[in-house]
Amino acid sequence: MTTPASILLSRIERCEARIGVIGLGYVGLPLAHALHQGGLPVLGFDIDQSKIDAIAAGRNYLQHLGNDLVTTLRDSARFEATTDFARLGEADVIIICVPTPLGRHSEPDISYIIDTAKAIGRTLRAGQLVILESTTYPRTTRDDMMPAIMAAAGDRAQSLKVGRDVFGAFSPEREDPGRKSHSTSSIPKLVGGLDAMSTELASAVYRKGVTTVVSVSSAEVAESAKLLENIFRAVNIALVNELKIVLDAMDIDVWEVVRAASTKPFGFMPFYPGPGLGGHCIPIDPFYLTWKAKEYGLSTRFIELAGEVNTSMPHYVIDRLAAALNDHSKSVKGSRILVIGLAYKAEIDDVRESPSFELIELCQNRGAHVDYHDPLVPTTRAGRKHDLQMSSVAVDAASIASYDCVLISTAHSSIDYAAIAQHAKLVVDTRDAMRAFESSMGTRLVRA
Ligand SMILES: NC(=O)c1ccc[n+]([C@@H]2O[C@H](COP(=O)([O-])OP(=O)(O)OC[C@H]3O[C@@H](n4cnc5c(N)ncnc54)[C@H](O)[C@@H]3O)[C@@H](O)[C@H]2O)c1
Repeated sequence: MTTPASILLSRIERCEARIGVIGLGYVGLPLAHALHQGGLPVLGFDIDQSKIDAIAAGRNYLQHLGNDLVTTLRDSARFEATTDFARLGEADVIIICVPTPLGRHSEPDISYIIDTAKAIGRTLRAGQLVILESTTYPRTTRDDMMPAIMAAAGDRAQSLKVGRDVFGAFSPEREDPGRKSHSTSSIPKLVGGLDAMSTELASAVYRKGVTTVVSVSSAEVAESAKLLENIFRAVNIALVNELKIVLDAMDIDVWEVVRAASTKPFGFMPFYPGPGLGGHCIPIDPFYLTWKAKEYGLSTRFIELAGEVNTSMPHYVIDRLAAALNDHSKSVKGSRILVIGLAYKAEIDDVRESPSFELIELCQNRGAHVDYHDPLVPTTRAGRKHDLQMSSVAVDAASIASYDCVLISTAHSSIDYAAIAQHAKLVVDTRDAMRAFESSMGTRLVRA
């Protein structure tokens, strides 16, 4: 007997099922590419017309992924990108990759998921599978996404039963933009459905584009596993940041300590200190669980403590910078400071939640004149908390020498650190980028 599930499964297996990817950003665009490479026809959706135009022009707006990825898609008869959400009915499988930020009071903002779910509901039909990839708190897929889809489907929802006619699953994205050793297709994919059939269908989709698919017993396990991964990082980064403060006070080099501990072949995993947390995931996702835990009358003390330590790091760095300037008979007020690196991590152009913004504002608040240099971020855009309206300055020997302090916030490999070592009056290094020049710099180099 054929059922909506059996028809969909055989369409997936034969690469006939059309995949709709909603949100063509850091997660959605490489995912669309991986599934397309696996032979599936892909229809990309975004509300941002400029992204659709860029794809049509063969230009990748995500520089670290390269133009080839976009031209491969654009030149294929099996790929299309659109802003027309009425076309969602054409997709057999819909994968949601929209943002999940925090609201003003650190509460989850799942409005992008809900808006998307409503759009899906408006064209919902039997035989569709919806997979959520956006990071979120446990039960979002079951309690928020699917009900929003069904509500928007109106009268049609009465004849559509979840697990029989339409299907839902969660599969967390584990992308690490800029990491060369892994791509979307090589990172094992976790899949948890709202029911067994949904898990089977979603797993079949990912097997087309991802080498290893790991199915778990429910959407909630998959949602929680993603949070565990990010909380693990947030807590360990906070731990090493706290150790940095303690070891700095004892005049012990924390980076050397981490490297030394890393020689243990088991039971230890290195995390490195920095000027604070950045990116769309680690500073944000843990608080999704904090919020949800409150519904159960529980608190998440590790997460909150880690958040406290990590968000205090820019203040620590600026205190170290002020002390270093003081040692050079300078005050922060009136000083010229050059911040190196605006992106939240090396080799990418993503500035979301970057601690560099905080560092710049803290220096400005203390009366410094601040410029930044980041070859990957020519100008700033308004973000969740900051709107600096600055542009990257060019650097050469003379300009480096003209600043009272160079503050290294993000260590892109393309930066000329030798020139900084040679010409800077003072360097405050939050990334251990200047180690090779340590002996020649003496008191001109301060780690923070
Ligand atoms: N960036 C990462 O490294 C990463 C890693 C793992 C998980 N995630 C998670 O994946 C999700 C997406 O993150 P991202 O970094 O790709 O975000 P992004 O901002 O790069 O991309 C999101 C895209 O969705 C589009 N969009 C917004 N609202 C929309 C709507 N209603 N309909 C259609 N498109 C819409 C935006 O225009 C944008 O192109 C988030 O939940 C994030 O936490 C991100």
